[in-house]
Amino acid sequence: MSVVFRNARVLTLAGPDGPKRGSALGELAVLPRGRVETEGDRIVSVGPEDGSNPPPGRRQIDAGGRVLMPGFVDCHTHALWAGDRLDEWRMKLAGARYLDILKAGGGIMSTVRAVRAADEAELIASLRRRLVVMAREGTTTVEVKSGYGFDTANELKMLSVIESVRAGGGTLPTVIPTALLGHGVDPDVPGFVDLTIGPTLDAVHDRYPGITLDAFCEDGAWSPADCARLFERGLALGHRFRIHADQFNELGALRWAFEHGAVSVDHLEATSPDHLARLARSGTFGVMLPCTGFHTDGRYADGRRFVDAGGALALASNCNPGSSPCGNMPMTIGLAVRKLGLTPAEAIAAATVNPAQLLGLTDRGTIGAGRRADLILLRHTDERQLAYEFGGNPVDLVMLGGALVE
Ligand code: NIG
Repeated sequence: MSVVFRNARVLTLAGPDGPKRGSALGELAVLPRGRVETEGDRIVSVGPEDGSNPPPGRRQIDAGGRVLMPGFVDCHTHALWAGDRLDEWRMKLAGARYLDILKAGGGIMSTVRAVRAADEAELIASLRRRLVVMAREGTTTVEVKSGYGFDTANELKMLSVIESVRAGGGTLPTVIPTALLGHGVDPDVPGFVDLTIGPTLDAVHDRYPGITLDAFCEDGAWSPADCARLFERGLALGHRFRIHADQFNELGALRWAFEHGAVSVDHLEATSPDHLARLARSGTFGVMLPCTGFHTDGRYADGRRFVDAGGALALASNCNPGSSPCGNMPMTIGLAVRKLGLTPAEAIAAATVNPAQLLGLTDRGTIGAGRRADLILLRHTDERQLAYEFGGNPVDLVMLGGALVE
């Protein structure tokens, strides 16, 4: 299929290779009245609207001045789960704290029980359902973590479900899997951490060599020392790693992580200004998840400080049943502007080009010839509306790999 978008306000986000940092984060490289042509799954040309008629056989879409931009890249989700956490939410609204619920055997552990009880077909259907909604709301690439298996068989089950959905086709976002092997510690299994770093990692490595690893470093989850052991072994086997750090408590894993080449440190709500500045000077991305503060406890990472210190920032929805039951990137952008101190332009770049770079996907997150045709047409003619309005779907049209999502 060939499509020509005409008369669009095109946010190309073009710029030098690599993530946008510092003042460059707010540069969207806009074509005020542009034209973008796609062929198959690629963008073939981008330029000013010249008013000429495209060759016959191409579908034309007149944007009428609306914003055309790269699809969102949601680089941190736990979008595969079973069951719900509605009773826990009631407890939270009555004052119970996230880590106390976890310590009492609920929270993540309750989702582990539900995922273990679900079969693959059920899990595939629920992940697909969530991805369909995310696509309609403009997400064209999504990272999905395992992490509710807590043993070899169930972690492999989750990764196999993610792989089936990834390979399953249809107009779904591109799926990037992550093996979240250290999401918590099962109190009923003696030697749980050793079993994870040993046989579980071996099995995951055999079936998914090179898959990115992840862990949740927190009181009541994985300690910094155990995370270091997991990642050192993973690095030796050829795996990159990311880490959930400083969500509630600053335990010191952040520094270890960037000194050992972590792809990203995610959360950062409790990170001290000094450590945030050090992370900003490193090659590791900081990932901020403002929907988590909105749903969980009103605490947010300091996005403004991190960007001003030159950090490579990405935003993500953190879609999961416990701390962020939301896979909506426009909401994430709206909160990032209100609560993390970003400008709308910075939030847009942190939701497109930077997370694409984080995931190692250099063919998306920007609009340029040769890039993947993952595009969204907003109903707005001014991109600041994306952050300003909230609660609806600002996306009029989604193109996934050159195919229109109807
Ligand atoms: O990133 N904090 C750890 N993991 C998720 C929450 C998962 C859950 O509560 O089920 C997060 O917030």
